[in-house]
Amino acid sequence: MRDGFGRTIDYLRISVTDRCNFRCHYCMPEQQRFLPRRELLDYSEIALIAERFMDHGVRRIRLTGGEPLVRRDIGVLIAHLGKYVTSGRLEELTLTTNGSLLADHAQMLAKANVHRINVSLDSLDSDRFASISRGGRLKEVLAGISAAKAVGIAIRINMVALRDINQMDLLPVAQYCAENDFDLALIETMPLGEGVSGRQNDYIALDEFVSPLREIAKFIPLAHRTSGPARYWQVEPLGLRLGMITPLSQNFCDNCNRLRLTTDGKIFLCLGSNLNVDLRQAIREGGVGEVDRLLETALRLKPERHDFENQLNDSTSRLSRHMNATGG
Ligand code: GTP
Ligand code: 5AD
Ligand code: SF4
Repeated sequence: MRDGFGRTIDYLRISVTDRCNFRCHYCMPEQQRFLPRRELLDYSEIALIAERFMDHGVRRIRLTGGEPLVRRDIGVLIAHLGKYVTSGRLEELTLTTNGSLLADHAQMLAKANVHRINVSLDSLDSDRFASISRGGRLKEVLAGISAAKAVGIAIRINMVALRDINQMDLLPVAQYCAENDFDLALIETMPLGEGVSGRQNDYIALDEFVSPLREIAKFIPLAHRTSGPARYWQVEPLGLRLGMITPLSQNFCDNCNRLRLTTDGKIFLCLGSNLNVDLRQAIREGGVGEVDRLLETALRLKPERHDFENQLNDSTSRLSRHMNATGG
């Protein structure tokens, strides 16, 4: 699949639920209305759509949420999609999770060919962790991460950079990652959704966020890439591979390779745009041919880039959709 700007699309992010057991304050407001269950695609519909994408060249699938592990019987879908890794139709099946339920699911993930996961961890201080996630329990997340490590899953920690909130956590998180052989990805907070507090105040460019670390460590650029937007550095003498995801300070849309399927069956063409096509209707009424036709439309409509830089300071131009609807 190639979009109107010549970019090859071979990566699909599937949000399997918009629900979450956390309420990270950069992601969603405390009181959040979730989609009614009847609106959700069922697992056979998700699998069918995923298969159409694979037929059109998608080679990597990442499951996201909300929190993907809160959806009932999620192991059924993961086991099904994992078979495409065995057969070679998929290069990679991955998951982004808040880690709180990982302890119960690690074994299932490893069995289903999920070799690599990204786990959000914004602080190693349990009070700050609870405050940022509005109630998350650090101990459970750390136990989940250990369980995933124990079954041999490679782990990248995702840390959203928040000015004056978790800058002091960078060194402890970096050391924890280095000790455990995890990668660490820092992420600039993106202005998505109404009622999410303090956007302008919380945002900090990663250059500034990492400057205290740069004073005590050397950053060596690496050619290493994952399938996402992170650029990686080796940080020495820590022995850490550090990724930086800089949607605001250093745009990476030129290399965009992805589309997003939401829980209610829409394909969102860009994280920073409301443009979408509705596959749920298509799959329920028009069948596979209609899905294929809409995929072509989606590729034509995919925008060149997001406009988060302006949306950060101008709340009137902000998209109302929260991050949990598309899973980032
Ligand atoms: P890897 O395959 O491990 O590189 O994963 P990833 O970075 O693509 O996925 P992950 O779910 O860990 O997302 C990390 C952060 O990157 C989240 O904050 C996402 O919202 C953000 N992100 C992922 N893809 C895009 C994108 O296309 N555009 C923007 N602006 N942000 C993205
Ligand atoms: N800006 C940047 N990253 C975000 N995430 C959630 N909301 C935002 C936001 N507003 C991150 C989570 C998770 C990933 C899927 O997206 O921390 O690691
Ligand atoms: Fe839940 Fe992830 Fe959003 Fe936090 S960032 S509220 S863990 S979906």
